[in-house]
Amino acid sequence: MLSRIAVRRCFSSTTINPYKVSVLGACGGIGQPLSLLLKLNEKVTGLNLYDLKNAKGVATDLSHIPTNSTVRGFNADEPDALHNALKDSDVVVIPAGVPRKPGMTRDDLFNVNAGIVHDLAKATAEAAPDACVLVISNPVNSTVPIVAEVFKKAGSYNPKKLFGVTTLDSIRSARFLSELTNTDPTKNSRISIIGGHSGVTILPLLSQDKLASTKLTKEQKETLIHRVQFGGDEVVKAKNGAGSATLSMAQAGAQFTDAVLRGLSGEANIVEPTFIESPIFKHEGIEFFAQLVRLGPKGVEEILPIGELSSEEKVLLDQCKEALKKNINKGKDFVNARD
Ligand code: NAD
Ligand code: LMR
Repeated sequence: MLSRIAVRRCFSSTTINPYKVSVLGACGGIGQPLSLLLKLNEKVTGLNLYDLKNAKGVATDLSHIPTNSTVRGFNADEPDALHNALKDSDVVVIPAGVPRKPGMTRDDLFNVNAGIVHDLAKATAEAAPDACVLVISNPVNSTVPIVAEVFKKAGSYNPKKLFGVTTLDSIRSARFLSELTNTDPTKNSRISIIGGHSGVTILPLLSQDKLASTKLTKEQKETLIHRVQFGGDEVVKAKNGAGSATLSMAQAGAQFTDAVLRGLSGEANIVEPTFIESPIFKHEGIEFFAQLVRLGPKGVEEILPIGELSSEEKVLLDQCKEALKKNINKGKDFVNARD
């Protein structure tokens, strides 16, 4: 039998790479549409869906779509379900956990989601220690440090392969900017967004975007910054107790997963924003930061500089760092107090 590497070499770069992706929390509001989009991705040839229940049903449904991947479902009540779902995965995507209701912050999800992410990370560190881990579960500013601590304790932490998925902030900014400038959202370049993924930790750098910096008034810039920072609340309010963003998040998650897979397959110049371990503010005790990275065959290939900030953005950066530091430490402390 050919090894996985040999199989990869047999395909030309324009055809299929056999990547196996696992989705943990695959039957939820994000998990289902995300799994559908991954089923349509030709770089995915193995798609494993894991959830507390209904994973077999969702997997069987998706398996009838005539694309190249084999879909398998793993319900938590079966023996070794999580281990079997994770085994040999190249990429593990984690949208498991509870979403917000109106009046809640993402940090209010910590008490429930920290434990869920902790346990899933522990299983991933055992069954798929070399996989790229893409964390969607909120609060991302804390759940990513939780995964890092769990992997460190297991002796398999690789900062180049741990990502907080912040793509939704970036796709929102493109859409919201197009509405303000009456431009085509598919043609606008995405605004660089740094920091983290909640409220004031989300910092869109409008001064670095040609369209935003030249076409928007001061008031419009403030409106846009606020809308990107609190775009999640818009959806939570509109859904009125039925959860938070799921469909736009599935699109964002599929886009980011595709970028990671393109990087793994050796495609050049794959640049995406993501919340990763970064040296940029480590000296201030902030170990993780969202910024643009270049993706490659080993995960993060290069962390790109954040560039010049305007004086207004420097003020926002101070607010961002203060909140982010607390979120990161909360995640780290949770693991250290528990294990
Ligand atoms: P949901 O409640 O619809 O789905 C969550 C799924 O996780 C459910 O199917 C549930 O059974 C499953 N789950 C719970 N515990 C599990 C466990 N231990 N193992 C496996 N599966 C488990 O919620 P949703 O709307 O899909 O949101 C999921 C998470 O994603 C939330 O925390 C939400 O805040 C977050 N989110 C993040 C972003 C982002 O930009 N990163 C965007 C939107 C939502
Ligand atoms: C979002 O940005 O939509 C997500 O983080 C979900 C939420 O709670 O707002």
